[in-house]
Amino acid sequence: MWKLGNFGLITWIYFACISSGCSTTIEPTSESTTFDNIMDNSTEWMMDFSDIESKFSFRTSEEPEDDLCYIVPGQPQTIKECNFNMETQTFIVIHGWTVTGMFESWVPKLVTALYEREPTANVIVVDWLTRAQQHYPTSAAYTKLVGKDVAKFVNWLQAEIEYPWEKLHLLGYSLGAHVAGIAGLLTKHKVNRITGLDPAGPSFEYADTQSTLSPDDALFVDVLHTNTRGSPDRSIGIQRPVGHIDVYPNGGTFQPGCNFQNTMLMVATTGLRNMDQIVKCSHERSVHLFIDSLVNMEQQSMAYHCSSKESFNKGMCLSCRKNRCNKVGYAVNKIRTRRSTKMYMKTRDMMPYKVFHYQVKVHFFGKTKLSYTDQPMKISLYGTDNEKENIPYVMPALNTNTTVSFLLTTDEDIGDLLMVKLLWEKDTLISWPWWNPDTFHIRKLRIKSGEKQSKLIFSAKEGEFSYLARGGDAAVFVKEKEAQSSRKNQRLHKLKMHGSSFKQSTE
Ligand SMILES: *[C@@H]1O[C@H](CO)[C@@H](O)[C@H](O)[C@H]1NC(C)=O
Ligand SMILES: *[C@@H]1O[C@H](CO)[C@@H](O)[C@H](O)[C@H]1NC(C)=O
Repeated sequence: MWKLGNFGLITWIYFACISSGCSTTIEPTSESTTFDNIMDNSTEWMMDFSDIESKFSFRTSEEPEDDLCYIVPGQPQTIKECNFNMETQTFIVIHGWTVTGMFESWVPKLVTALYEREPTANVIVVDWLTRAQQHYPTSAAYTKLVGKDVAKFVNWLQAEIEYPWEKLHLLGYSLGAHVAGIAGLLTKHKVNRITGLDPAGPSFEYADTQSTLSPDDALFVDVLHTNTRGSPDRSIGIQRPVGHIDVYPNGGTFQPGCNFQNTMLMVATTGLRNMDQIVKCSHERSVHLFIDSLVNMEQQSMAYHCSSKESFNKGMCLSCRKNRCNKVGYAVNKIRTRRSTKMYMKTRDMMPYKVFHYQVKVHFFGKTKLSYTDQPMKISLYGTDNEKENIPYVMPALNTNTTVSFLLTTDEDIGDLLMVKLLWEKDTLISWPWWNPDTFHIRKLRIKSGEKQSKLIFSAKEGEFSYLARGGDAAVFVKEKEAQSSRKNQRLHKLKMHGSSFKQSTE
């Protein structure tokens, strides 16, 4: 029963924050006044370990869930006792706000994934659970003190064993991202990298860079924004960019697979323990996207620089020239620009999250003036390795003699594109069989692939035009002949002869 109570509390607090607005100013606490002294030039406070409340749990790959050994600032023997490896890199994982006062289930998952990718590394989990389970604004204010604890820990570790700054990578989720930022600001030298996993929004959207994660806090700061719905400061995740590279998967607002039905299904199959997933699904997706990047190296997701999510959704931003695309997550290319770079990507609704992005450009010719909105289309892509049929797409506007550009994604690698089919569905149950169907003429499709960086032109399979009729047959386009390898030609020939039935012959 208490779990249900917890869920009620979580929802209540989250929605109280989102709908009525958490206080935009951090509640003054007696401790936050002492924080002001930190920014003076004295370094004495750095050596005072007596007020450290956070604990630094050295986790192992064998028992990623358990606190078996703490490294204690001021007690050098604990470094040895925990078998800290001085030769390799260190990941410091920082959790966020919690209602239960316990580590959330993603913590051991991230620890395991870090060890899977870097088996000899050190993974340290910061435990600030007591301060993290307060009323949200209080916990938000505590990020400064926890950041100070982490900075002291890192400074001490560095001084004690001459541990190199460039081997330190802090990873913070939600409020933990701001803790990492504050820690990075206070260390003597910049740490190598901070990864912010959906940094918390309430209390931070309008706060200054000293109170939040910012590009100044490490040599390189990368951020994933996964739950930024609602007006600023009311969304769970911060909306503005706070790193060198800020990735907004699926626009950053809300993640696929996180709708109410899906999460209810998950609760039904995995139990009430996951009740809070309904609220946190999109927020926590940031962690799972990072885990994905650690463990699914063969399915590396790509993100693309774009001025807005609207332009991205039109497929306009799939270029990789001049660092405009980048790997998402662990293997990101550390491109430091003066201003934050906003990047976009689509994902699947489960791991591995990678999809393949395509921009489709098509010009609709017509003799009569036709004008439609929100037309349901189905697009089929056939490639050298695979095919993806009937990908639904709702075309926002469809007008005679205009060009439309849109983004299409597939969750499988179909190889090099050879053929495309475009189907215009009837959007109404009422059909008029005697009515002449509305028809557009299409000469060419232009398709650009983000992942392959190819630009291809597809022309009507037969004759000059393919015809796209509402409720009619699919318009078929094949890749223009030039630049086709013989292997592709063979495959293309097969496609032309058998249409989509080739799948059976290859299985
Ligand atoms: C810290 O040092 C800077 C320049 O090094 C100086 O401008 C500033 O006043 C100092 N702050 C304090 C609190 O002493
Ligand atoms: C569309 O353009 C074609 C030629 O470019 C022209 O023949 C046709 O009349 C135009 N249709 C409309 C509705 O303006």
